[in-house]
Amino acid sequence: MLPATGYAMRDENRPYADDPAWTAVEIDFKRADHPLRTEPFLQGLAFDYVSVHTLDLSICSPEPADPQYLDALVEVAHENGAQAITDHLGFTHGVKGGAGVGHVMAPPFSEAALDSTCRNIDVIQRHFGPFKFYVENLAHFFAWQGEIDEISFMQRVLERTGCGLLLDVTNSYANQQNFGDDAGDFIRAVVPAASRVQMHLAGGYFDERWGRYIDSHSESIPPEVWTLYQEALAIGAGKVDAVFIERDWKFPREEGWRNEVHRARQLADEVAQRAQAAEFAR
Ligand SMILES: [Fe+2]
Repeated sequence: MLPATGYAMRDENRPYADDPAWTAVEIDFKRADHPLRTEPFLQGLAFDYVSVHTLDLSICSPEPADPQYLDALVEVAHENGAQAITDHLGFTHGVKGGAGVGHVMAPPFSEAALDSTCRNIDVIQRHFGPFKFYVENLAHFFAWQGEIDEISFMQRVLERTGCGLLLDVTNSYANQQNFGDDAGDFIRAVVPAASRVQMHLAGGYFDERWGRYIDSHSESIPPEVWTLYQEALAIGAGKVDAVFIERDWKFPREEGWRNEVHRARQLADEVAQRAQAAEFAR
């Protein structure tokens, strides 16, 4: 089974949604749920696979997500013909009503955080019903002290809850650049633990001032990420549902949009063909 390929939908790439390589789309919950919107976000467009991406489930908080927020996600998924809903393995706030962090932070990788995360995912999955839920690995700004390493934490979340993995290949590459983690080791360990897989691909830049690789979604996908992508496709053969390219600023011209999604599609084809050839040779 080949993954569907496409983009996180933005106003800037919407004109190219007719491209034959663009078969999957990720829609941003906040854009699709905008109060001034009077028709479904994907009105007039058709894709093989639709996924709703959100930032505020805060699955690593001590308490489960607000049921009203879960209902709103399900509504947007229904009205856009989605198969899946995704968020990050992180938190945006502590207790309900408390101060917000301002972005999604990875949790301390502790037994206590693992228990509350799995409990929250169980609640989410019961609420989402037929919509498959996937959790995304984050790029870190710093690492909390915890008694579990990130790989084991993610593996145990996936195995205990049965949820899907949204593998952000560029996030794992950023952690390799910034913290010396081996992105290949991460991918080889977590993809086999996942029931189903989606992927994110993006390009960032190295900030000399901070000495950090920034996953800015502003550049072309770097060669190292394409290489990791192929490895992840091979390991996840048969269970990768969709691949989404994320681009949020410094937008390319039409050719740039079309080229990257074609490359994602072509590499998926090549990996599948190599696997088939290896099967015949046995
Ligand atoms: Fe991502």
